Amino acid sequence: MERLAETAARPLTVSAAARPLGGEIAVPGDKSISHRALMFAALARGVTRISGLLEGEDVLRTAAAMRALGADIRREGTEWVVESAGVQGFSEPSDVLDMGNSGTAARLLSGILSGLPFTCFMTGDASLRGRPMRRVTTPLSANGAVFVTRADEKLPMAIVGNGSPAPIVYRMPVASAQVKSAILLAGLNATGATRVEEPVATRDHTENMLRHFGVPVTIEADTRGGRVITLDGPARLTARDVIVPGDPSSAAFPIVAALLVPGSEIVISNVGLNALRTGLFVTLREMGADLTVVGERVEGGEPVGDLRVRAGVLRGVDVPPERAPSMIDEYPVLAVACAFAEGPSRLRGLAELRVKESDRLAATVALLTANGAAVHVEGDDMIVEGRQSGRPLGGGTVETRMDHRLAMSAIVMGLAASRPVTIDDTAFIETSFPGFVTLMNALGAGIGA
Ligand code: S3P
Repeated sequence: MERLAETAARPLTVSAAARPLGGEIAVPGDKSISHRALMFAALARGVTRISGLLEGEDVLRTAAAMRALGADIRREGTEWVVESAGVQGFSEPSDVLDMGNSGTAARLLSGILSGLPFTCFMTGDASLRGRPMRRVTTPLSANGAVFVTRADEKLPMAIVGNGSPAPIVYRMPVASAQVKSAILLAGLNATGATRVEEPVATRDHTENMLRHFGVPVTIEADTRGGRVITLDGPARLTARDVIVPGDPSSAAFPIVAALLVPGSEIVISNVGLNALRTGLFVTLREMGADLTVVGERVEGGEPVGDLRVRAGVLRGVDVPPERAPSMIDEYPVLAVACAFAEGPSRLRGLAELRVKESDRLAATVALLTANGAAVHVEGDDMIVEGRQSGRPLGGGTVETRMDHRLAMSAIVMGLAASRPVTIDDTAFIETSFPGFVTLMNALGAGIGA
């Protein structure tokens, strides 16, 4: 597989949309659910058919890793078919597992591999090799696995699995669905109760999909917004078909573009509406956005609906820190919306943004600053001054730092700003949103025209 990091950079300059955005689109499948669908299907014995899978670079890395462990994974028409003898059929991969740009793939797979009776080697691209793995290696070591890493617990690393793992009981110091999921997946092969306490509820796709594959998972909510998740091992998964909804984190980009480009009205069909993912929609409505859901329904165990968005004036907002896990990937594009809003915004409790595909706190500040917006950081909060009369936005160059969401946020800025925005490299958009520019142009964005 081609490595994105080694492909040529794709610079782009984006000018203001010449006309309102309009029309109906569907965004690609949910990235979090797609990774889990491939992993869980490979862990299950039997045949799983997946529809709506995100065919982005990150997810293709997960597919390659699960193949290397022994699953047969192929595309048949519009579906992906996973045929596996289950975890008992897994064997030691003959090469390094390269997870590319994907933190989710690396962290969740670490959990699976920690409880298997062989050794694996894992690496990633320059961005992933800079991201912290200690958050998973520390709890996962409690099951008897050994992780040999570079200095500061960074990839590449060797995972010496323990085929008779002990169940892990862990209270998470950070709100991270990746860490929670890694521990739960390690628990599948352990004898006894694996228990994870999370201080704030994070996306629950792992819990939902484990149940879908026949594994009983207990979830208890505490009074302060936290949760305790328990799984009794050993537990075997049974193959079940999966329907992947559209990714709300990908929908965020056309949504904010449509809110900001005057006169726009768009519909995005079939978007996942899991309440632990939709903090951005709550926030945009608080800002006065005309954002409505039509036809809400449940598909494949997850709520989905069609979103109708109409452009309008936005006002500044104060986003509480406890909302961060439900919109953790949406802050760069929210910050762009805030730069066009009337009045200042305060986005609170963003420490986790520092350890994403880039340091997104610093990179978002740089994106806005380069384009004439006033923004600063106080502790873990970002403060964005709203639109200042007479001060044009745009005109800057944005460094995307191997970060897909930075690139798409900069494109949205360019569509709404009065001066063009230049982006050094848009190649990484392929990790989560293949066809992004084409889809935006189908709405009339005129990017690259
Ligand atoms: C993800 C969890 C989040 C998110 C990432 C996907 C997942 O990371 O940023 O894009 O699929 O579990 P953290 O759990 O580390 O916050």
